[in-house]
Amino acid sequence: MQPSRPVTRLVDGFGRRFHYLRLSITEVCNFRCAYCLPDGFKKTTPLSFLTPDEIERLTRAFARLGVAKVRLTGGEPTVRRDIGEIIARVAGTPGVSKVAMTTNGWNLRRHVAGWRAAGLTNLNVSIDTLDPASFAAITGHDRLGDVLAGVDAALALDMPAVKINAVLLKEVSGEGFDRFAEFVRERPIAVRFIELMRTGDNADYFAANHLSGKVLQDWLEARGWIARTRAFDDGPAVEFEHPDYLGRIGLIAPYGAGFCDSCNRLRVTARGKLRLCLFGEGGIELRDLLDRNEPDALATRVLAALAGKASGHRLVDGDFGDTRQLAQLGG
Ligand code: 5AD
Ligand code: SF4
Repeated sequence: MQPSRPVTRLVDGFGRRFHYLRLSITEVCNFRCAYCLPDGFKKTTPLSFLTPDEIERLTRAFARLGVAKVRLTGGEPTVRRDIGEIIARVAGTPGVSKVAMTTNGWNLRRHVAGWRAAGLTNLNVSIDTLDPASFAAITGHDRLGDVLAGVDAALALDMPAVKINAVLLKEVSGEGFDRFAEFVRERPIAVRFIELMRTGDNADYFAANHLSGKVLQDWLEARGWIARTRAFDDGPAVEFEHPDYLGRIGLIAPYGAGFCDSCNRLRVTARGKLRLCLFGEGGIELRDLLDRNEPDALATRVLAALAGKASGHRLVDGDFGDTRQLAQLGG
């Protein structure tokens, strides 16, 4: 049976409902992924990211509007020393039933039990390849073993959902897919490939490494993997199952037709701007309303902005908005 739809006041002009907030809490990252921050994070402006108090007020205001799931992203959210407190504050907000986080996994093994205890329910770990040398080449850190130990530590807890995000890269296709399939044979985990997206900074890398999701889909179907039916709050991922495997393999294809039709998420940047689309322009300032507890003013501003949300991105036309790299916004 499908879960019932949570009530949300967050509806746009195309009837899409938003009960999922992706909240970036830092632009800083300690990895140097080739498609995102190949030269590492560079500080260009003062780092003044949302404080735990501001995050709590923001979360409360969105929860009153109908948001039930909050994902903490970055940058790398776990470079913040107060990450445990932030998780606890979000988890303690009435109406929020899922507290998710996307991490590169660098300190997962040591901290995941504490984060779970603080209220984390959904964990996504970014791992683009299961080949240690290629992992080191892509991220700038020879730490695949550590990150995988962190994933297994998370799986050993009673965490409701642990997933792996992999950017779909030409160099990881074929044999790379075999390795991921092997990985999920005995692990109840979903590995979700996301098509590499063009951003302002990654033109050359994109040209050399972009691979259509169709390649993975054909690979899966040829081996007996079957797309499972989608629940209403699945968002844009399609997941495939196979009777011989405990885990699943998914595909998120932002270049695919109809991708934006299932958009169910809003984004807020680490500096407190509402961003209606990953590949849009600018953002709507919310931070001035977070100094004081002003949930009604915040609601009015968010609802007015949402009425103007565009039907979809224009990536296929080569328009990626003003997004220079995803670390800036939270992917
Ligand atoms: N295209 C696709 N995915 C990206 N990510 C970062 N930049 C890109 C891009 N240009 C992914 C990261 C991580 C998530 C936060 O976003 O690898 O899984
Ligand atoms: Fe850091 Fe994520 Fe960007 Fe990699 S993709 S550099 S882990 S923010």
